Amino acid sequence: MEQIQMQQVKKVVLAYSGGVDTSVCIPYLKNEYGISEVVTFVADLGQGEDLELIRQKALNSGASQSIVGNLVNSFVEKYAFPAIRANALYLDKYPLSTALARPLIAENLVNIAREINADAVAHGCTGKGNDQVRFDLAINALGPDLKIITPAREWNMSREEAIVYGEKFGIPAPVSKKSPYSIDVNLLGRSIEAGILEDPMQEAPEDIFAMTSSIYNSPDSPQDIEIVFKNGFPVGINDEFLTPVEIIQKANNLSGAHGFGRIDMIEDRVVGIKSREIYETPGLLLLIKAHKELESITLNPDVVDFKGIVEKKWGQLVYQGFWFGPLKDSLEAFISSTQTSVNGRVKIRLHKGNATVIGRMSENNSLYREDLATYSKDDVFNHSLAEGFIYMWGMSNKIWAELNSKTKD
Ligand code: ARG
Repeated sequence: MEQIQMQQVKKVVLAYSGGVDTSVCIPYLKNEYGISEVVTFVADLGQGEDLELIRQKALNSGASQSIVGNLVNSFVEKYAFPAIRANALYLDKYPLSTALARPLIAENLVNIAREINADAVAHGCTGKGNDQVRFDLAINALGPDLKIITPAREWNMSREEAIVYGEKFGIPAPVSKKSPYSIDVNLLGRSIEAGILEDPMQEAPEDIFAMTSSIYNSPDSPQDIEIVFKNGFPVGINDEFLTPVEIIQKANNLSGAHGFGRIDMIEDRVVGIKSREIYETPGLLLLIKAHKELESITLNPDVVDFKGIVEKKWGQLVYQGFWFGPLKDSLEAFISSTQTSVNGRVKIRLHKGNATVIGRMSENNSLYREDLATYSKDDVFNHSLAEGFIYMWGMSNKIWAELNSKTKD
C-alpha cells in the first residue's frame, strides 16, 4: 500500500452517498492513508432519499463529522436552467442530468474543505467512468492546492472484498441483495447502467424505470400543455407561474405520466469506452424541446444556426468535465446574449411516449410574419423581385453546370 505519500493529509472531505463503497472509503482513508479525520458530505439534489439516515451511516462508519447540504435550488437555477438555454444534449440525446450535478458537488467539497481547514478531498469514483473526470477537473479548478484522494481508483478490491473490509470496521454488509444496476438519481433524472443492460441488444426491462410510465400504462387520451418562457428560462406551465424547482417537478410529473423522456443510447465516455446507458429525464427533455421550439420563432436564422454549434460544444464541455473553464464561460456569454428575445409559449401534446409540439407563439419577439408567409392575400411581398435574387443566388452554380455540360460532350 502506497500510504506513505499521503501521510501528510490530516483531514479530508469525502463525497459520500451512503452506499457500501463510499462507506468503506471512510475506514480505508483512515487506516490505509493514515488520515485522522474523515468528514463526509452528502448532497441533496432532489434524489428523494432519507438523508438523515445517510448522515448517521457516515458517522457509524467512522466519519468524524457528517454534513448534508441542500443543493436543490442551485442545482436547478445554476445548472439545469443554463442547460435548457443551451438546449444541451450530449450526442444529440443525453441532457446531462448526472453530469450537471458533479461540478456542483465538487464546488461544495472545496468550500467545506476551506471552512474546516482540510487539506484534501476524496471521492469514491472508479477509474472507468466520467464522474471521476468531472470531480477531479472541477476540484482542480476551484482548489488547485487541495489533494484529491480516490480510494476506489487505487484499491484492488472486488466488491465482495470491499464488503469484507468494511465488516472489519463495523460497516454492515448490504441486507438486501444489491440491484444488478448502477443507478444515479437526482431531481433531473435517473441514469441506469450495468446488469443485463451491458448487452446493447437487450431491451431495457420495465422495472428499471421509476420516473416514467411505460406506453402501455400511460393514459389513452393525450394531454395538451403550454410551457411559458421568459428570457429563455421556463417560468410557468399552463398559466401557472412556478419557481424553477417547481417547474422541473411539474414537467417531470406531466412527461413521466405519459411515458416521455426515456433514452436508450450508446455513449462515448471521456475515457474512450463506449457504454450502453439508459436514462429517464422526463422534465428536462420536455423543457429543452419546448425551449428550442420557441427559439425557432424568436431567433434570426443565422443565430439559430450558429447557436447549434455552440450548443454542441457546451454539451461536450459539460459532459467532459470542463464546467469551470474559460471556453464554457465564453460560450455562455454568447448564449445569454441570444436569450433576451426568447419569450413566449409553446404548446405540446403528451401522449404514449411522445411530446409533440403543436403550437408556439411570442407576443413581442416573434419574427414570424403571417402577412409575409401567407398563401392568401398578398400585399406586402413583391414576387417579381425574387427573379433578380435567384439570378445572383444561383450564379455560381449555373456557371458550374454550363462548364460541366460542355465537358461531357
Ligand atoms: N454515463 C452517465 C454520465 O456520464 C451517467 C453516469 C452515472 N453514474 C452511475 N453510477 N450510473 O453522465
